[in-house]
Amino acid sequence: DIRGFIFDLDGVLTDTAEYHYLAWQKLADEEGLPFSRDANEALRGVSRRESLLYIVGDRKYSEAQLQEMMDRKNRYYVESIQNISPQDLLPGVVTLLDELKQAGIKIALGSASKNARTVIEKLGIANRIDAIADGYSVQRPKPAPDLFLYAAKQLGLEPAQSVVVEDAEAGIEAALAGGMWAIGLGPASRVGAAHIVLPSLAGVHWSDLHAKLNELVI
Ligand code: BG6
Ligand code: MG
Repeated sequence: DIRGFIFDLDGVLTDTAEYHYLAWQKLADEEGLPFSRDANEALRGVSRRESLLYIVGDRKYSEAQLQEMMDRKNRYYVESIQNISPQDLLPGVVTLLDELKQAGIKIALGSASKNARTVIEKLGIANRIDAIADGYSVQRPKPAPDLFLYAAKQLGLEPAQSVVVEDAEAGIEAALAGGMWAIGLGPASRVGAAHIVLPSLAGVHWSDLHAKLNELVI
């Protein structure tokens, strides 16, 4: 049976995906690198370094320059999240977290971000989370399953007892590669490989998810 939920952060619990995008766009503009909101879709859930390498493309930079650009983007991002508050939790999140707690289901964070702890503290949900897997936890980024396997292990659960909630294609791939249940939030073009696809967590209840997951087991 399902014993744990592992939530991605950016684009799932809060809309920081937008702030990540704006910070990369600012950096790309400064460097004269082609980048757009469209191109950014490929960067959902992708680590800081992999994102930069994608934006840089064929342009040659030294390791020191790459490092400086990653630091610069992060400064822009950190600046933009200063005023995040519980009001920035996406619709449906608090209800679902409450219902899961009520049902005795453990909660973990599974985010590629090194800013994940700061963000959940600002969102006021740090005390609801039993384990954190973030940008410091494992080496191999999503779509490798390592981050989610680490999260499940922290919860003391098997992959098959765990549900991952993700908005990124790389995140769904990671969950499936880890042998977990996957709930994808967003268009099927992005998260269609998930077991359950929903537009967002708004109006989503544990009882409905539980019923759908049970159907899949049979
Ligand atoms: C993921 C975001 O959660 O974390 C990505 O979806 C981001 O957009 C990645 O690049 C790494 O985040 P950070 O805060 O460590 O640069
Ligand atoms: Mg995400």
